[in-house]
Amino acid sequence: MARTQVAIIGAGPSGLLLSQLLHQHGVDSVVLERRSREYVAGRIRAGVLEQGTVDLLVQANAGERMLNERLVHDGFALGFAGKSFRVDLRGLTGNAVSVYGQTEVTKDLMETRIAAGARLIFEAHDVSVEGFDRAHPTVHYSHGGRTHTLTCDFIAGCDGYHGVCRQSIPTEAMQSFERIYPFGWLGILADVPPPAHELIYSNHERGFALCSMRSVHRSRYYVQCGLDEKLEAWPDVRIWDELRRRLPASVADAVVTGPSVEKSIAPLRSFVVEPLKFGRLFLVGDAGHIVPPTGAKGLNLAAADVRVLYRALAEYYRTGREELIDGYSAQCLRRIWKAVRFSWWFTSITHKFSEDPFSRRMQLAELDYLTGSSAALTSVAENYVGLPFENPPI
Ligand code: FAD
Ligand code: PHB
Repeated sequence: MARTQVAIIGAGPSGLLLSQLLHQHGVDSVVLERRSREYVAGRIRAGVLEQGTVDLLVQANAGERMLNERLVHDGFALGFAGKSFRVDLRGLTGNAVSVYGQTEVTKDLMETRIAAGARLIFEAHDVSVEGFDRAHPTVHYSHGGRTHTLTCDFIAGCDGYHGVCRQSIPTEAMQSFERIYPFGWLGILADVPPPAHELIYSNHERGFALCSMRSVHRSRYYVQCGLDEKLEAWPDVRIWDELRRRLPASVADAVVTGPSVEKSIAPLRSFVVEPLKFGRLFLVGDAGHIVPPTGAKGLNLAAADVRVLYRALAEYYRTGREELIDGYSAQCLRRIWKAVRFSWWFTSITHKFSEDPFSRRMQLAELDYLTGSSAALTSVAENYVGLPFENPPI
């Protein structure tokens, strides 16, 4: 029977980053991933990294290409009532964000792990976890037509919202909190230059739109859509047309169209489970919480969980002390709930929820207030760039 100290389920950004930081602190892990390496490396998702996430990737020795290729953004724009207003992140907080795709983060982490001789098992099927209420939990899986068992000291559930780890916890042992929004995001990626240097979040009576990017040659756009929409109903030309209608005229005129490289529809939800630790099983990243992408917080929260967990496990293996491990859930949840609040609030002022004219006036009043108040703008900016961490890196 194979053995490791920490069995990590999922090779998304949280699983790979955790495995690398543990390795740097002399802790052994095995990563089990359901999908193929190519599939994981090709998934298009997040685009905005907080400085804390950038720092952690550099610390993990996976930041070199990112530091060369990222776009540092000192602000973003809010579009509403036909105008565009710039939120000066740098001026308000002294901080900025980095635009660098999750796809690239994942590729960099994979390369770093593989170069360090990691045990990463892709296409591990039928993963099941058990015995996490005992000293040595086990993980069963099949790979290459054979079944395998792995014993470990801890299991890190880095397996995303649909993963097996959270589903293995008795329902009476956890409480979940959820808000499902009555819309989704239709995303389009195209090899065309973005209309501006910075991101534009646009509130419009037809619905929300976002202009983002992956590089100065590659644009990423999102438009709010119905939950029952099908991609087939959205040929590129319809997306470009709808996007332009939802942007301030000056931005719409600058949108360059081109064939899509990728298109997808994602539902929006807020979701948190408490606690995030059950005996020797930890939930990390999307496995334990989801936020709507409006605040660009999901990947950053996943990295923040990893930051708490690798320190706790490194401390345990170094000294035998369990205080940090026992404090994992409470420490992560404080940051998580604040990001849930920010993402929910930012969604609420930028998206169309109904035809109700009063709600529309409230949104416009909130945006008008926000853009006229340095106190309110500072609050938005400090949340967007990422709230400070309680502990310095080790
Ligand atoms: P995941 O990336 O979901 O990885 C989980 C892994 O576990 C996957 O590889 C999966 O295949 C694997 N897995 C699942 N089940 C099993 C199993 N049973 N056995 C083995 N392996 C399994 N976040 C931001 O911070 N900034 C943004 O700008 C941003 N934009 C976004 C835009 C969109 C459209 C979407 C959908 C999300 C966005 N996010 C953003 C959120 C971000 O993508 C996620 O929060 C992030 O991927 C979480 O990483 P993770 O490693 O926890 O989970
Ligand atoms: C992205 O580029 O995919 C992106 C950027 C900002 C967000 C969400 C997604 O808030």
